[in-house]
Amino acid sequence: MRIVSGIQPTSQLHIGNYLGAIKQWIPLQEKNECVFFIADLHALTVPYDPKKIQNSIKETVVAYIAAGLNPEKAIIFVQSQVKEHTELCWLFNTICPIGELQRMTQYKDKSKKFKENINAGLLDYPVLQAADVLIYKGEGVPVGKDQEQHIELMRSLAKKFNQKFGQTFKEPASLILKEGSKIMSLQDPKRKMSKSDEPKSCIFLFDSPEDIQKKVSSAQTDSGKDIIYNITKKPGISNLLTIYSLLNNKPIKKIEEDFKGKSYAEFKKSLAEIIINYLEPFRRKQKELLTREVYVQEILKKGQSRAQTIAQETMKEVKDKMGLTG
Ligand code: TYM
Repeated sequence: MRIVSGIQPTSQLHIGNYLGAIKQWIPLQEKNECVFFIADLHALTVPYDPKKIQNSIKETVVAYIAAGLNPEKAIIFVQSQVKEHTELCWLFNTICPIGELQRMTQYKDKSKKFKENINAGLLDYPVLQAADVLIYKGEGVPVGKDQEQHIELMRSLAKKFNQKFGQTFKEPASLILKEGSKIMSLQDPKRKMSKSDEPKSCIFLFDSPEDIQKKVSSAQTDSGKDIIYNITKKPGISNLLTIYSLLNNKPIKKIEEDFKGKSYAEFKKSLAEIIINYLEPFRRKQKELLTREVYVQEILKKGQSRAQTIAQETMKEVKDKMGLTG
């Protein structure tokens, strides 16, 4: 099966990105052809600094590898370096009903948040995302829950294209984990953990042990003192229990038993330790990779070339079917 996914280089990656997306990518790369890219073109739809984006791209590639992606197996590259993504996006624009884009939750949220900059790219964002996957004829898209609607649109565009121009694309399935697909903010557990929020609401993959301790101990908890999972009554503790369980590979029920009669402070102390230990090898690998710039550049170059070979083939087929070749 061909797997495709990507992350925007908008800031450092956090444990939501890891638990919702990257953690699934690692086992998938063993038995599938995987295409994982840095979605730099998507990142341009919100305010950004042109002087800093190259650095953010590099940091994101380093994070991919530090978190366990294997460049010998997966194709890793930068989206804007394979121009077929934008070419296919334009062709898809001509079959995508504008109403479907206006209905997208992420578009509505972002146009509220960035009132001064509601650009056409923000609306068109899911069409580029559909092109990202379909240019590789992707069949599975491992992502967090917030991307479900975008993948629905991808499926609907694949279907429309096939109906209009003949069978070309499979409809990709979203691969969304039962646990971890929506990690919540540490400061406001009713909202998802997000790169654009204040740093203390996120645990970043390369946070120092001191920062992790501080962030966990200041995480919002709920009234009462029992450590039990109840998403409506105890959203704060439930979110922390989810993180604990995923990083420690222990069922939530067992953690509840272990902490019966213990305080929030004891639970948080133990959680901070688990996060620190889990992320320790990531920090080590990141440090090493940051000194190996040539190696990282080579990975991207090789990834670009492998990606482009597949993308060009699809593009040729699409252009033929749409009547663009003489
Ligand atoms: P981005 O950069 O916002 O997020 C990257 C991945 O992390 C997941 N994620 C979360 N999972 C669990 N809990 C959270 N709090 C959380 N926050 C983010 C996201 O669901 C995503 O899987 N549009 C995509 C990037 C993209 C893409 C694609 C993905 C561009 N083209 C093609 C798949 C296929 C995005 O915004 O990612």
